[in-house]
Amino acid sequence: MIKIEGVRRNYKTGETEVKALRGIDLEVTDGEFLSIAGPSGSGKTTLLNLIGCIDSLDDGEITIDGVPVSRMDRHAKTTYRRENLGFIFQTYNLIPVLTAFENVSFVLSILGVGQEELSERTYRILKEVGLEGMEHRRPDKLSGGQQQRIAIARALVKQPKIVLADEPTANLDSKTGEEILQLMKQMNRTYNTTFIFSTHDKMVMEYASRLVLLHDGEIASDTRRE
Ligand SMILES: Nc1ncnc2c1ncn2[C@@H]1O[C@H](COP(=O)(O)OP(=O)(O)OP(=O)(O)O)[C@@H](O)[C@H]1O
Ligand SMILES: [Mg+2]
Repeated sequence: MIKIEGVRRNYKTGETEVKALRGIDLEVTDGEFLSIAGPSGSGKTTLLNLIGCIDSLDDGEITIDGVPVSRMDRHAKTTYRRENLGFIFQTYNLIPVLTAFENVSFVLSILGVGQEELSERTYRILKEVGLEGMEHRRPDKLSGGQQQRIAIARALVKQPKIVLADEPTANLDSKTGEEILQLMKQMNRTYNTTFIFSTHDKMVMEYASRLVLLHDGEIASDTRRE
């Protein structure tokens, strides 16, 4: 369970200050498939980065499973992120010189997983995302949708409780985008992984079981379906 209470984030650039988040209160329960939507600049990425322990807030608190992650220092955040969170980015962020297999297994080697288990888990997750037979190709030898599948495998291979995805379908055509969504939804059901994604994409919003709309750094609406 993620608890976000009174979260504010201001960016200072020179003389000007942008209030990116102006007091966000939100609770996300385990296994939710939550979409954050809202106009450009409304604070979606800022909120994801705070939940993801990538950035620091100015006021308020974020706790994940009772752990006040927003109070951690940089080093503790990095460790927490590595062990507990998965990320999927709009531009995939794969390492170009590594194969699909290496891009995914890398995450496990950082966590100290032994060779045999590492290999077994990597092959298994790549198969689950539909990349069987393509494990030893580098990203530039794969399509955008296939690259995003590697990114999903990489986010899920450590079996995190939470996956954060910033506009995961933005660079995909709508058919591939829908396949990627179905895949994430399937992973959400299979592993009860919580997914939180930001999007401009109507289709992504339709897949969500809950839609939070941001406007100017505040929650404008919060709708549940199902
Ligand atoms: N590093 C930064 N330095 C200064 N201002 C920033 C920084 N990051 C974001 N902002 C500002 O904070 C506000 C929220 O930005 P954010 O990136 O969270 O919006 P967003 O909803 O993700 O937008 P988009 O849909 O375009 O991705 C914007 O006004 C933006 O200009
Ligand atoms: Mg953004």
